[in-house]
Amino acid sequence: MSVLTILSLAYCVLAANVTRFSLTVPLAPSPLPPPHPRSDGEAIISLFQTLGRTTIWRSIANISLQSPGYTYEAEGIVRLGSDRYVVSAGDWTVPTVSYGNGLIINGTDRTAGEGSAHFLVYTGNGTLLADATLTSPGEIEYHTGGIDFDGEYIWTTLAQYRPNTTAHIVRVKPSDLSQETVLRVFDHQGAIVHNTAKQTLHTLNWGSRNASTFAYPAGHPHGKPNHYKPPPSINSAYTPPTATVRNPSYFIDYQDCKLLSLASPSYNYRPIMLCSGIATLGTYYLGGIALVDVETMTPVAEVPITLRTDAGVPLTVNPVEASVVNGKLRMYWLPGIGETVLRVHEADPRSPFEFGGGPQ
Ligand SMILES: *[C@@H]1O[C@H](CO)[C@@H](O)[C@H](O)[C@H]1NC(C)=O
Ligand SMILES: *[C@@H]1O[C@H](CO)[C@@H](O)[C@H](O)[C@H]1NC(C)=O
Ligand SMILES: *[C@@H]1O[C@H](CO)[C@@H](O)[C@H](O)[C@H]1NC(C)=O
Ligand SMILES: *[C@@H]1O[C@H](CO)[C@@H](O)[C@H](O)[C@H]1NC(C)=O
Ligand SMILES: *[C@@H]1O[C@H](CO)[C@@H](O)[C@H](O)[C@H]1NC(C)=O
Ligand SMILES: *[C@@H]1O[C@H](CO)[C@@H](O)[C@H](O)[C@H]1NC(C)=O
Repeated sequence: MSVLTILSLAYCVLAANVTRFSLTVPLAPSPLPPPHPRSDGEAIISLFQTLGRTTIWRSIANISLQSPGYTYEAEGIVRLGSDRYVVSAGDWTVPTVSYGNGLIINGTDRTAGEGSAHFLVYTGNGTLLADATLTSPGEIEYHTGGIDFDGEYIWTTLAQYRPNTTAHIVRVKPSDLSQETVLRVFDHQGAIVHNTAKQTLHTLNWGSRNASTFAYPAGHPHGKPNHYKPPPSINSAYTPPTATVRNPSYFIDYQDCKLLSLASPSYNYRPIMLCSGIATLGTYYLGGIALVDVETMTPVAEVPITLRTDAGVPLTVNPVEASVVNGKLRMYWLPGIGETVLRVHEADPRSPFEFGGGPQ
């Protein structure tokens, strides 16, 4: 396999540090497919409403994703048509270490650790087409999180890998993986979605306990170099959120979200996203998926998912995607650390009807 490393540091806001494993195969379909809100988002919402605890999730495919040559933790996924997946991934090289004894230094409870953030582009059969490194060596905000595609860009957060710290918000062009830093923000931020109708960005912080809304493109650092990092003391370079709401649900912590609708008729014309995640309850890992109001974080539908990998990891631990095939709901999960099998499951519409949780 021929490997060509293309390193182009454009003088302005765009840069790409991409290793391409095929020079002839395009990274993304052209034209780009419509995002969920302009295609199957409402259909996914409708099918979600037929789900329950008795839903039978048929295994449709296990797609082994080719290794980029290092072990990564997958954080988010977007599907660009039926033959492309983009996976946000972390190559964690130095672990964070707890300060211990409940010690808090500079607002956080552990050391920074080291690592790098990547976008990996795969074909539908798991062949690796490209590996983009989104972070410079030594960068402290190296943790990529959940991702979402808005029809033009794939959005991610690059955050310190520890709670209550800092992050920057980046958008990546699917055709060449060039990236642009759009906002620099306080707090660790993970999953992100972009409401293209309202020009707002919505992020979930550590454990998805809070959701923040940022006005975009207000604060866009036009003309600043990529990876622009003002000293932490210059607070004005950070864009404050226009709103922060506390997540009212402790059912699961969301890891990755996909905006499905900008104004869903099923839910009083509210913007709705799909989120997937887990909660650790003692020694038990509870997995689940939810439809969530993007602005209030109110879950409007929730379903537990008990599927696990052979090693016992809940399938919902990290990335999630969804599609509708022949009128049926398909979910895509990429669980585990170092385990890189994309699990595709379909909700069987003939699943038994659920009467409820037994006699009251
Ligand atoms: C995918 O792998 C799981 C085991 O991890 C297996 O139970 C399932 O049948 C496989 N699905 C397909 C379509 O091969
Ligand atoms: C805390 O922040 C100060 C000021 O930015 C810095 O000098 C110091 O090294 C930080 N401490 C740790 C443990 O990161
Ligand atoms: C976050 O850190 C800041 C200082 O960096 C501190 O003032 C604030 O109380 C911390 N918040 C939480 C929730 O720990
Ligand atoms: C995987 O998909 C690509 C393009 O979609 C194709 O060129 C390639 O032959 C496929 N490889 C395998 C092993 O099926
Ligand atoms: C580009 O990515 C490679 C591979 O991760 C890394 O070794 C190199 O330092 C990166 N270069 C820059 C300028 O960020
Ligand atoms: C959530 O946000 C509220 C208000 O903005 C803040 O007081 C609280 O510390 C935050 N909690 C977490 C866990 O970030």
